[in-house]
Amino acid sequence: MTMGSLRCFLLACLALSPAVVGHLGHSHLHHKKHMHSRHHAEEHTATMASQAHFQRTGRLARRQDEPDDSDDFACTASKGCKIGCCGPLDDAGNGVCGLGPNFCGEGCTSSCHYKSECDPGWGAKWSNATDCPLNVCCSAFGFCGTTAGFCGGAVTSSPECAISAGTSNKRTIGYYEGWNSQRDCGHMTPDEIPKGYYTHLFFSFSLINPKTFRLEPMDDITGTLYGSLSALKKTQPELQVWLAIGGWAMNDPGAWRTTFSDLAADENAQDAFFESLVTFMARHNYDGVDIDWEYPVAEDRGGKPEDFDNFVNFMRRLRERLNATGTPKGLSLTLPASYWYLKGFDIVNLEPHIDFFNVMTYDIHGVWDKTISVLGPYAHAHTNLTEIEDALKLLWRNNINPERVNLGLGFYGRSFTMKDPGCMSAGCEFTEGGNGGACTGTAGVLSAHEISQIIAGGATMTLDPVAGVQIVTWDENQWVSWDDTTTLKMKVDYANQRCLGGVMVWAVDLDDGTLIKSLAETGRATTIILDKEPDIIPCFGSDNWQGLGDNNSTSS
Ligand SMILES: *[C@@H]1O[C@H](CO)[C@@H](O)[C@H](O)[C@H]1NC(C)=O
Ligand SMILES: *[C@@H]1O[C@H](CO)[C@@H](O)[C@H](O)[C@H]1NC(C)=O
Ligand SMILES: *[C@@H]1O[C@H](CO)[C@@H](O)[C@H](O)[C@H]1NC(C)=O
Ligand SMILES: *[C@@H]1O[C@H](CO)[C@@H](O)[C@H](O)[C@H]1NC(C)=O
Ligand SMILES: *[C@@H]1O[C@H](CO)[C@@H](O)[C@H](O)[C@H]1NC(C)=O
Repeated sequence: MTMGSLRCFLLACLALSPAVVGHLGHSHLHHKKHMHSRHHAEEHTATMASQAHFQRTGRLARRQDEPDDSDDFACTASKGCKIGCCGPLDDAGNGVCGLGPNFCGEGCTSSCHYKSECDPGWGAKWSNATDCPLNVCCSAFGFCGTTAGFCGGAVTSSPECAISAGTSNKRTIGYYEGWNSQRDCGHMTPDEIPKGYYTHLFFSFSLINPKTFRLEPMDDITGTLYGSLSALKKTQPELQVWLAIGGWAMNDPGAWRTTFSDLAADENAQDAFFESLVTFMARHNYDGVDIDWEYPVAEDRGGKPEDFDNFVNFMRRLRERLNATGTPKGLSLTLPASYWYLKGFDIVNLEPHIDFFNVMTYDIHGVWDKTISVLGPYAHAHTNLTEIEDALKLLWRNNINPERVNLGLGFYGRSFTMKDPGCMSAGCEFTEGGNGGACTGTAGVLSAHEISQIIAGGATMTLDPVAGVQIVTWDENQWVSWDDTTTLKMKVDYANQRCLGGVMVWAVDLDDGTLIKSLAETGRATTIILDKEPDIIPCFGSDNWQGLGDNNSTSS
């Protein structure tokens, strides 16, 4: 393959991925297949669609994601309801759409079998389910949501810790994009990763063969680096190196679309996967595994309803198999920061099987917003403490232990080309993604390394102290939101205030070394760095110190 075909790198080959115009974050892509991202377009569409959901306006139950057009909730003898049942018609022949016995009961005039999302007290026959996913509120109209329109006065309390207690300081996870060398510039080989700061490095990504269910590399080049990453443990003995499996792009339309669903549904497939994984970990000296399934249950991501229960069984069996190796092995999974996708995860029953959840609290906004009616083409920061707080409340509603939660931090920004150079604040209109960066070359996203260079070349940076984010503007119409030293500190303080057990970074190789150093300066734990490799190598159950395993085959 030529380098030209690999110009997708960063997280997102959005531009090349028609179905998803935008994610990046944990998204990565890679050459013909993947990239993963943890957030993106459809997600957002869906997020807003459901998160806010239905709300009362006047006498109508209205979806927040629909235009404020009462015609959508009006019906006549000839025009039924898009959503709900058409209640009794008045003398002029007009009715109102709604749910429950008043609309779907005796006086109902059309679409009378429509059931509500949840039961506000009408009785089971009027509703698809009694309760809402993730324990969110059921409004008086039978829709699930989290805002006052759904919850009335009920509030969810969040954990509170003294910031100075530094609960998150002990765990700093860095995802490493195995394909970063395929960019034009701004590379970071494993041995260039700043030492002493990360407690965990997660190699991103490995895929799973759709037929054999054995691990397989994203491509030949990426597959040669597994051992180089774990070799860092020679001089950083406290460092843990884990394999991240999946990613956004794995669930894009294509050969891998249903692989996670198929795996979770079939214990024989799981056994083949486990043997491949355990072999890989021994051969390459890995300490743990991170499952990045984006996303179970979500139909727009190739999921199906059975994923909800199957994922729990899969993780339970994976935990058992890892334990059976006889040496401690880590296990985590990534979670989206949106109700829409998170509702496909049975977080309560997954939690006992994992060490921690990595929450992708970035990519909350991007160019895809323009396709979402309630959002539109207005520039908003991709990471924002107000919105992160709302997302984490979905965990607290379910009594997830904050010690098992890592806050996602982005070492990149989401950019826009703005419509009017006279309107460059958050909330102003954009026309498209910002110009691609010199190294990452993808419209709508810039690495921290690239943003630093833009600032050095002359740009205006404005702190939003509430969102905890920096907005940088340059070249008349270019706009990017990102986290610098100041706002990373605000986010770490927030993680500590919420008693979280760690932070995770997407991605190590998007930084020029500045951001991770500044993170450490917030008081985070650093780890030992040896001057040279010890003469006697501790036995890790592997002889992989000579670069054995730096080949691309993960299925042997
Ligand atoms: C209730 O379930 C039916 C069938 O699955 C579905 O078509 C309908 O949209 C659901 N109602 C709501 C409000 O989600
Ligand atoms: C990787 O594997 C492919 C086929 O599996 C092989 O053709 C290629 O030479 C390998 N590359 C390296 C660097 O070992
Ligand atoms: C696996 O090991 C961990 C600790 O190493 C333990 O807490 C957990 O209960 C074990 N799980 C199973 C299923 O054996
Ligand atoms: C942060 O999120 C809040 C709530 O959605 C929003 O009002 C605010 O404008 C956002 N800030 C930025 C800079 O996007
Ligand atoms: C890796 O591949 C090269 C050639 O592709 C081969 O010479 C070497 O022995 C391989 N190493 C291992 C550990 O398989």
